[in-house]
This record gives sequence, C-alpha cells and structure tokens, in this order.
Amino acid sequence: MLKRTLTCLLIAVSTYLNADVPLITNVSARNITSLNGKWNYIVDPLENGFLDYRLEPHKNGFFKNQKPTNPSQLIEYNFDTSPHMTIPSDWNTKDEKLFFYEGSVWFKKDFTHQKKTNNKTYIYFGAVNYRASVYINGELAGHHIGGYTPFNFDITDLLVEGKNFVVVRVNNNRGKDEVPTVNMDWWNYGGITREVMLVDVPSVFVEDYQVQLAKNNKGLIAGWVKLNAAKAGEAIVVEIPELKIKQQIKTDQNGLANFQIKAKPILWSPKNPKIYEIVVSKADESITDQIAFRTIETKGKDILLNGEKIFLSGISVHEEAPYRQGRAWSKDDARTLLGWAKEMGCNFVRLAHYPHNETMVREAEKMGLMVWSEIPVYWTISWTNEGTYNNAKKQLHDMVYRDKNRGAVVIWSIANETPHGEARDKFLSNLATYARTLDNTRLLSMAMEVNHLPNHVNVVEDNMNEYVDIISFNEYMGWYDGRGTSEDCRVATWKIPYNKPIVVSEFGGDALQGLYGDKIERWTEDFQEELYIRNVEMLSKIDGLAGVSPWILKDFHSPRRQLFGIQDWFNRKGLISDQGIKKKAFYVMQNWYKTKNN
Ligand code: GCU
Repeated sequence: MLKRTLTCLLIAVSTYLNADVPLITNVSARNITSLNGKWNYIVDPLENGFLDYRLEPHKNGFFKNQKPTNPSQLIEYNFDTSPHMTIPSDWNTKDEKLFFYEGSVWFKKDFTHQKKTNNKTYIYFGAVNYRASVYINGELAGHHIGGYTPFNFDITDLLVEGKNFVVVRVNNNRGKDEVPTVNMDWWNYGGITREVMLVDVPSVFVEDYQVQLAKNNKGLIAGWVKLNAAKAGEAIVVEIPELKIKQQIKTDQNGLANFQIKAKPILWSPKNPKIYEIVVSKADESITDQIAFRTIETKGKDILLNGEKIFLSGISVHEEAPYRQGRAWSKDDARTLLGWAKEMGCNFVRLAHYPHNETMVREAEKMGLMVWSEIPVYWTISWTNEGTYNNAKKQLHDMVYRDKNRGAVVIWSIANETPHGEARDKFLSNLATYARTLDNTRLLSMAMEVNHLPNHVNVVEDNMNEYVDIISFNEYMGWYDGRGTSEDCRVATWKIPYNKPIVVSEFGGDALQGLYGDKIERWTEDFQEELYIRNVEMLSKIDGLAGVSPWILKDFHSPRRQLFGIQDWFNRKGLISDQGIKKKAFYVMQNWYKTKNN
C-alpha cells in the first residue's frame, strides 16, 4: 500500500509540476502521424519499472528501454521480447490474465521522425485510464491523471532525427480521492484506451478556436481563434464555403482573434443533421472542421431546440464496444452503438458516466443524435479534498474544451447520484458555476436521486436545483424500489417542485437475454418488458417530462454483478444483450418513441 501511495504521490506532484500543455483542438485535422497499432507491454504489479527495492525512484527504470551493451550486463526487462497489444485498447479484454488486473502496465513503441525547422511536435492521447507517465527516448514528457479526457505534450526537444521510441506507464489503481472514486458500476478498463498521434504544427499555430451560433441567435455565428503564442497581427481566415463566408481577422497581443459573422445557416436538428465544413487558416496552416449550427435553451418546463419544443427520446450508453466488450474507441464501434439508438427511435444519447471518445460525439452529430456529456463525479467521492475538486474541475474543463464546437452536445452533466450534504453541495455548486464560465451556451444538469416516501409518493428535491437548467434524476421503480414488481408504478405519484424541464436520466431493470417466464419472474425478458411498460406509463404522466434516457443500451461489464449464470460480471439492464441481440423491452421504447414528434 505504501508503494502505491508513494507512486501516486510522486505522479500527483509531478502532474502538478508538469501540468499538461493546452490541448490542441481538432487534432485529427492536423498534420498527424498515427501511433496506433502494435505496442509491446510489460505488466508491473510491484512498480519495479518505476521504483527500486528501497522504493526510491529508479534512475534506469523501464522508461529507459535499456538494451545490454555487453553480454554480461544485467537488465531484467526487454520490451522487444515482451508481448504486444494493438492500441487503442484496454488490457482487460486483450489478455485474459489481465481481466481483473488493476495496477501498472508499461507500453513501448518505436517510431521514426524527420525533424523540421520552425516546427513543433506534440504527442497526443485521446485518453489513458487512469494515470499516464509519458517518456520519449527515455526522457519524461509529462504525466496525466484522468481516464476519459485527452492530453498532449510538446516533445519537440526530446525527439531525434530518425529512430525514436515512446514509453508510457499506465496505472489504473482506483483511489478514494480520485474521480471516479474507488467504487463504480462499470469495469475499470485500464490502458491506452483511445488513439495516440504525433502532431506536427508550425512553431506558432492555431491551438484552439470556437465556431458556433451566438447564444440563442440563429442569425449570428460568433467565435474566436487562439494561437499558442501571444502574437499580435497574425492574419487568420475563417471560411464557411457553403455559406459563401470568408472573413479575415487579426490576432491581438494575446494571440486571440474574435469574430462575428451574420449568417442564416440551415440549423442542425435530429431530423436534419446539417453540418457545414469550415476552414480556419493562416499563412502556414489550414484546419478543416465540421460544424453543426443550432440553438438550445429551456423555457419553463420545455426544452427548445432552434426555438421549438423537443422531447429527448434517449438512451444511456456506456463506452463499451459492441460484441467484443472492452473500451469502445473506433468509428465502427460508434456507428454500431449509435445505430442501435437510432433503430430504437432515439434523438438523444446520454453518454455516461464520463466523456466518451471524440469520434462517438462526432458520429452522434452526423447521425442526428443530441448528446448529454458527463464527468465521472459519481456516487460518493471525496467532497472535502481539494485535489479531488481540482481533478473534477480539470476533467470538466477538458470535456468542454474538446467538444465546445460539437453542436450535437446540448447538455453538460457534472455528477451522477451524489449524496446530499453540505460539502457535496459546495463542491457541485462551484463546479456548476465554473461550467458556466467555460460555456454559457449549453444546458447544465446532473443525475439526482429520488426520495421514495410512504404511500408511493416519490420526491425529487435537491439543493442543486438552482444550479442546473434541467432537473434530471434516476429512478428504479420495479427493480430496486417497491415490492419487486412494477405494480407500484400504477399508484406512484411524483413531487418535483421546480419550474424546469424534467429528464429521467435512468430507469430500467435487468434481464438475461433469452430467459423467458412469467412477468413477475425477475431476470426474465418478460419481467423487464413489464417493468418498461409500467414505467413508461407512469413517467408519461409527469408534468414537465421533457425527456428520458433509460438505463441502458447494452449489457456492460461490471465488477459489482456476480450472480453467476445470470450476470456473469455483466450488468444486464441493457435493452440489447452483450452479443447485440435485442430484448423484448427494446420494442417498448421503440413503440413509445414512435408516438413522440422527434
Ligand atoms: C445507478 C447508476 C448506474 C448503475 C445503475 C444500476 O443509477 O447511475 O451507473 O449502473 O444504477 O444499478 O444498474
């Protein structure tokens, strides 16, 4: 335990000192070299690659990727004779010895590089769960903490001409003060779980930009372009060819250029997911992006998309691959999962409980699915720990930073099922206030809990109500709550004393696909179907119901689900099985959504 604490402390301090350099926006549109593919790996349960037997930091740890220089030299590791894994991937589903493994694994990949003058090179990771220490040619590039957000390091001065190597130490040990904390109802997939790229940019480059409709203004495109350097007078061109827009702007002394363009773009909607190509360029670079223009707001208990009331016909989704399980990351994974949502008749997906990969959000936008994006402030985290708050704040920042140009994202969520309390209220209200400084154009929410009172009275009351735009809550009538049947749904009443739209962010129950029986027989598809019928009936009566996202699209791995023969390490609340077979309850939602004007 001491060793692990020491390692985590070492990294935490170094992470603070080596704080990530600002994220590069829209990395895939830059001059990139993919480092996906074959990486050698060494499992390191005792941190032998990081610490010596006195628990002192190794001078020649695994990050040196040492090779013997004479036949008698003792080196007790060799990446090149170690097994390899195809990255991106979690390790849990790539090596059955690692299914339950939590600890450190070292990864190594060789690559070649041509150095160029007036050029910078970054290494970019879509995500690494949960801690990453990145070394280039044996030298530290930086550390990162957080399992679901991108990060990049400037490695220009660490690279040599020709042959180079990168070593990454990944650690996924859970921690009481981490985000998420030590318990969660999903698998703690460890590894380099998203794409890795080298990014070549000019020494002075467009680091970040925002191009969206001005808040609630369908006729004004507003935005800004930011350089990585405080350089004034840099000429930037913003183009939207289809709208015949080509505007030249100049950066100020901070390297920032704001713009406003009067325009009447076709507005994005689930029925017409119109996307415009935009180009942000300067003398020595040109970046293309795909932008959806839309407005999102609330009015009383209604959610308005482009000024019109819309019902969020949704489904909750974990970032778990269809069929093979493990972390989803690819366009194919996204298209399969989101294709199932579209088949259900959804116009909305709740990407739970952490920011999903950027491809998932971009594919949702192309397919006409509004997105709820969330940080893993999940259950009972360490509300009074400053490091925990800063970690949550950083993850919130990086989630908004990455997806601020994704019109499909309409809701940011800052928490899930957190316990009432003074420290929690302070933590979340500060987070909510901070979220508004990052983005005042989207709606804010969090999944609250229900207080089930006697006589089937259900109350949603939360001090956080004033900090959110949408009142969302998770309810499990018929599964966790009530007499174990859905009968209580028939007599349930709801008290939600807020004049804001209501989204039921979770409801549902388990079923083992292919198990049939009486509708009162738990774990059967018939039980789940009856539960859905009764819950839909009950929820439809709630005044101000503006959307639902039942739990959940697909069965997913969870270490909390040990009923063998039924769960087998799966949470079985999916409307689709882990093998992609739809259950009877899927069609309950499909039929209900047909009645909604999506
Ligand atoms: C909770 C939680 C989910 C969990 C679900 C369940 O509401 O938000 O993460 O998987 O219930 O118990 O299945």
